[in-house]
Amino acid sequence: MDDLNNKVALVTGGSKGIGLEIARTLAGIGATVILAARSKDTLEKSAARIVESGGKAFAMGVDMGDEESIRSLVKTIQERFGVIDILVNNAGITHSALLKDATTKDFDRCMQINARGPFILCKEALPLVQKASRGYIINIGSVVSIKGYQSQSAYTASKHALRGMTMSLGEELNKTSVSVHMICPGGVDTGMVGDVRPDINKDELIQPQEIADIVKFIVTRRGKGLIDEFRIRRATSGPWFA
Ligand SMILES: NC(=O)c1ccc[n+]([C@@H]2O[C@H](COP(=O)([O-])OP(=O)(O)OC[C@H]3O[C@@H](n4cnc5c(N)ncnc54)[C@H](OP(=O)(O)O)[C@@H]3O)[C@@H](O)[C@H]2O)c1
Repeated sequence: MDDLNNKVALVTGGSKGIGLEIARTLAGIGATVILAARSKDTLEKSAARIVESGGKAFAMGVDMGDEESIRSLVKTIQERFGVIDILVNNAGITHSALLKDATTKDFDRCMQINARGPFILCKEALPLVQKASRGYIINIGSVVSIKGYQSQSAYTASKHALRGMTMSLGEELNKTSVSVHMICPGGVDTGMVGDVRPDINKDELIQPQEIADIVKFIVTRRGKGLIDEFRIRRATSGPWFA
């Protein structure tokens, strides 16, 4: 049931953190995984580690802030693989400052990478995902796709935008062979959270593997129902039912 042999997965931001764990996990159940990010060195090392442990992984450069770069990534995948069974929009950046101190440039950058990039990638990759017998688009949001946190106005706006776009795409593709999912995590133990929330005790953080397990659950579960959104928070934070 878990076997993703002959399935192709594209994981943006697959070079480290949550994306790398998702890539490892999907490769571990047979998928051919494409890791996409900017830093060539880190990407290639990460892909090589997956290959060393018996997986099928390829490193491909992309800048999610650059429309041409995204188009070129999809073109390369089309030529080499012809299909994308699983698209994981995971690449992202964060930003931390009170709104009064944040700049328009900070805001634009968050929107560019976290919302505009996934919009372009969904649009460009959709014909390839529709070639899959069963296609998945999985977008990695955040707790701030749903709530607002102080000092995160630019990041929060971009993650709300990503969730909005995902909701619309889910409606558009409903009852087709492609299902659209959103995962909204609270603090996860990666470099990103260390940079903006050094106040959180590391022991309380969600592990990247827990997010990868949700992705695995989405792409391997069988049943008549569909789960559109997954919310996972630090057990030490408050519930978010709103
Ligand atoms: N860590 C958390 O607490 C947390 C919580 C909720 C949601 N998230 C979300 O989870 C996702 C992954 O976060 P993470 O914690 O794993 O972050 P991370 O460790 O900083 O990794 C970010 C990944 O995104 C890539 N990336 C950044 N900018 C890019 C760009 N312009 N083009 C292409 N790739 C780019 C990075 O590679 P390059 O820099 O080499 O390009 C890297 O592979 C993000 O969307 C983040 O918002 C994280």
